[in-house]
Amino acid sequence: MTKTVGFIGSGMIGGTVARLAVAAGLEVVLSNSRGPETIADLVAELGEHARAATPTEAAQAGDMVVAAIPLLAYQQLPADALAGKVVMDTMNYYPQRDGDIAELDADELTSSELVQRHLAGSRIVKVFNNIGFNQLLNLARPAGAPDRSALPIAGDDEAAKAHVTELLDTIGYDAVDVGTLADSWRFGPNTPVYTQPYFGEQPDGLSRDEALRWMFQTPGVPVPAHRVKELTETAVRARAGGSF
Ligand SMILES: NC(=O)c1ccc[n+]([C@@H]2O[C@H](COP(=O)([O-])OP(=O)(O)OC[C@H]3O[C@@H](n4cnc5c(N)ncnc54)[C@H](OP(=O)(O)O)[C@@H]3O)[C@@H](O)[C@H]2O)c1
Repeated sequence: MTKTVGFIGSGMIGGTVARLAVAAGLEVVLSNSRGPETIADLVAELGEHARAATPTEAAQAGDMVVAAIPLLAYQQLPADALAGKVVMDTMNYYPQRDGDIAELDADELTSSELVQRHLAGSRIVKVFNNIGFNQLLNLARPAGAPDRSALPIAGDDEAAKAHVTELLDTIGYDAVDVGTLADSWRFGPNTPVYTQPYFGEQPDGLSRDEALRWMFQTPGVPVPAHRVKELTETAVRARAGGSF
């Protein structure tokens, strides 16, 4: 059973998973690019079950590790320290932010296969990439709740996916196994299960700024496992990269 979750990247999505993990009684070790002292506020908010560290220390400390950084920095993930670990890949490909990555543009690889190639000694599971951070925080529910949501997962290692399924259950979500890392495009940008179902219907007539504000603030709507399954099974492969 996972007791400590390490975080490489402690921003919107990493910080949110950390909040859910601490609320579920787990220990978290947080890291970012600028140094442990710059995460002091988040650590203070999370309390005695959280501490700040370097990426290498967070990788070593975690029974499982969340990689929640912009994809452009994936080669900076500490491969040696992450060897042997289950690494949860939240990352999405946004060329405007990450630059053009030819293998992804050509659909030769999914972004998680790229990360797996860099972290050859780790077991990557793609998860937490298809839901906005605020909806992730708000839609967590205890096991058995009628309005519990599910998140899709994908990975090449069955045992690693079982660990992630257990972690999701602990922090408030059901898991839907979509297949291997090669299948993970089924819940990447430009697919039906990517963020929109968890946002719910956006009000009509919003300006671009208002729409963005709404997306950050709306608590979201539950998306049950059968709906995630249906949306991922019927997905059609489209352009790999998202756009802001
Ligand atoms: N925001 C969402 O709702 C959401 C939802 C699902 C998936 N995602 C995906 O998850 C990933 C993270 O997104 P985010 O929105 O959480 O980004 P964010 O708020 O900008 O946070 C990024 C975090 O990564 C850290 N970081 C950047 N480069 C690093 C490096 N080389 N080593 C260690 N840490 C590094 C940053 O630290 P510093 O601040 O110190 O640089 C920061 O803590 C992206 O790939 C995004 O597409 C985001």
